[in-house]
Amino acid sequence: MLHSYIAGVGSFVPPNRVTNDDLSRLMTTSHDWIVTRSGIEERRFADEGVYCSDLALEASKKAIADAGISPSDVDFIIFATLSPDYHFPGTACYLQPKLGLNMVPCMDVRNQCTGFLYSLAVADAFVKAGMYKNILVVGAEVHSSALDFTDEGRDVAVLFGDGAGAVIVQPSPGEESGILYSELHADGSHAKALHMDIWDISRKPFLTPESCATRERWPTMKGKVVFKHAITRLVEVVNSTLAATGVGADDIKFVIPHQANMRINQFVAQMLEMPQEKFLHNMQVYGNTTAASIPLLLDETYRAGKIERGDLLMLLGFGSGFTWGATLLRW
Ligand code: UT7
Repeated sequence: MLHSYIAGVGSFVPPNRVTNDDLSRLMTTSHDWIVTRSGIEERRFADEGVYCSDLALEASKKAIADAGISPSDVDFIIFATLSPDYHFPGTACYLQPKLGLNMVPCMDVRNQCTGFLYSLAVADAFVKAGMYKNILVVGAEVHSSALDFTDEGRDVAVLFGDGAGAVIVQPSPGEESGILYSELHADGSHAKALHMDIWDISRKPFLTPESCATRERWPTMKGKVVFKHAITRLVEVVNSTLAATGVGADDIKFVIPHQANMRINQFVAQMLEMPQEKFLHNMQVYGNTTAASIPLLLDETYRAGKIERGDLLMLLGFGSGFTWGATLLRW
């Protein structure tokens, strides 16, 4: 059967480095608190005037070049983000002309930290169905404009950073390599455990000066609830992926997990009795980049020469929604 593979990968982060000490000048926090609780040491923030689609453009150009194709070969764009350029249309429609493309179908996926995994599964299904041959899947975020850098928002603000990661998904040239299995989940009963309302569409008008003055314009999180569910669900989805594919944990070269919190990933590895070294991290330098985190880490791992053709990789994500999932692929 026709199946898909990742033919090219790329990433981009804005140059402005923001350390934990920089944040401690804006709010009551400390390098020690942030590192001990999350593993994060610094993150990148986009400058004023930079859009999510601008970060995505740089990552996309690299993924397109890595796949050995030209932008005009791209026949579908899937854009995962929770920080779109504007409310509508979707950010894929802003990225498309920046890539010099027109008439290429565009779609946004709003699944937060699992957005890239959902997007990859959609691209895989399109390729399997024979509909498209060069799908650009990009995850990008500009969080820094929508974080509350006061003591009230410090539990969330210290965790997130800006960045982008992209892949090109094509029909696999052989039976051996490609996306072997995707498993996606959601539990909307926890929608308010990590959310950003900004407005309420049932209200007329939906947005008022008064509502803008409340905390509904900032992301809010029940940190401990998210933390506990993340560990439980990630362990479950790894186990069910292994059971469904008959692959052993030992056969996996690397797990590329979402980069929310070092302790979450360490607990997951421990509960699965997998070596900690198999779980890769770059949250130390980028923080949590939500839909960008998995392709950003995949790109860095690939460019560091750590992945060879034939290696089994597991991509793993959990986040707001709650949504979570896993993708098993042979490089
Ligand atoms: O990608 C989406 C998925 N997101 C996640 O996976 C995040 C999951 N949750 C977490 O990573 C953790 O819950 C946090 C890192 C957010 C927080 O760690 P925690 O150990 O659960 O801390 P806490 O929320 O219980 O807060 C402990 C204390 C509180 O003070 P009191 O009430 O004990 O006096 C907080 O007010 O730490 C305080 N605190 C801070 N102190 C310094 C909260 N944020 C900060 C801060 N700096 N930035």
